[in-house]
Amino acid sequence: MLFYRYKDVIEEGDIVMVYIGRQQMKLVNVTLGEVINTRYGHFEHDKMVGKKYGDQMVGAKGYGFIYLLHPTPELWTVSLPHRTQIVYTPDSSYVIQRLNIGPGSRVIEAGTGSASFTHSFARTLGDQGKLFTYEFHEVRCNEARKELERHGLLAVNTTITHRDVCQDGFEIQGEDIRGDAVFLDLPAPWTAIPHLKHVISKEMATGICCFSPCIEQVDKTVAALQEEGWTDIEMVEVMGRRWEARKDMVRDISDVVKRLKDIQARKTQGIEGRRVVKLQSETATPEPNVSYDSGNKRPASTEEDQQKQSESESKEVSPSQQPPSKFQNLGKGFNPFGKGIRVREGDESYAWTQVTKIESDVKSHTSYLTFARNIPTKKQPEENV
Ligand SMILES: C[S@@+](CC[C@H](N)C(=O)[O-])C[C@H]1O[C@@H](n2cnc3c(N)ncnc32)[C@H](O)[C@@H]1O
Repeated sequence: MLFYRYKDVIEEGDIVMVYIGRQQMKLVNVTLGEVINTRYGHFEHDKMVGKKYGDQMVGAKGYGFIYLLHPTPELWTVSLPHRTQIVYTPDSSYVIQRLNIGPGSRVIEAGTGSASFTHSFARTLGDQGKLFTYEFHEVRCNEARKELERHGLLAVNTTITHRDVCQDGFEIQGEDIRGDAVFLDLPAPWTAIPHLKHVISKEMATGICCFSPCIEQVDKTVAALQEEGWTDIEMVEVMGRRWEARKDMVRDISDVVKRLKDIQARKTQGIEGRRVVKLQSETATPEPNVSYDSGNKRPASTEEDQQKQSESESKEVSPSQQPPSKFQNLGKGFNPFGKGIRVREGDESYAWTQVTKIESDVKSHTSYLTFARNIPTKKQPEENV
């Protein structure tokens, strides 16, 4: 089962996440004789056998390439067919660590939806754990079941049940569920919470997380949790931010002096350049006036045109009339040392320090996460009471 067990070399029957392009990934079961067709060419499954996960594979005609990636819940989340809104990795990873879910945990999830989070749970629980996932929409439930089957999860640790948990609860005939973690991604989790007492662990603390997009839903969820005796109730939201790491040039006082001198030199250059241009326009000989063009009866050149022409000609300065080279503009843009050049980030001739900056596009939250814990009350033996 490749979604939670890693291997190096691809064999027939394995699952491969085919990376076709930045926006396009496709999960394939390696089947001899089959071919993937992409706009970059076609790729034979037979040639995948024996390659390593992570390898690049060239198209059958010798052009175009794809990457053969190991399937993971994270890659599945960004490539799965959406049937519903889904939980993304920033939230799922936080929920899993916050509910202390690990190998051997017993998790209750509703609804399954597009089974994005289901894959992350299943990978984390390993073959000693158990995941009970519920979905009341029949078509979605069947689609999810087929996927979980294909990805080998049903065989290892996952049970999917077609059920309205708000109405009919979570119990499954013949199963002792004993959940130690609960995740509810439902429109009305407060109606499902009262059913949980029949299926959560009586031996150990159970953590719950309810995933709701609106604060009004959070209000009702908190009220239901309190009513049912859950404690440590806390609502959080996860804000994903990408950080950019880069180098910043280290400058000292002598650099500042150089920079000021450079600014002064450029100012002088400007004044000198303008003086030369003015001098030329004063000494230029004006062209004689031209009257009408005989063909189209419009002036070939007006006085105004001539004025413009003489100005532009006067700007074409002969080499002998150009400002001295030390006054010529040697470059534009950021110029930290007044050398008239751009300095490439990390150029080894200068000193640099490592800095980080937040990218401007901040990926914000998708839902509020309400956490709580249920601590089982141990019954005292009659005689001790
Ligand atoms: C937002 S989706 C869940 C997405 C899922 N967490 C994922 O990551 O792919 C919510 C799902 O809950 C299901 N649902 C809503 N009410 C339900 C109920 N009472 N019992 C079971 N499933 C329910 C919906 O059909 C829907 O598929």
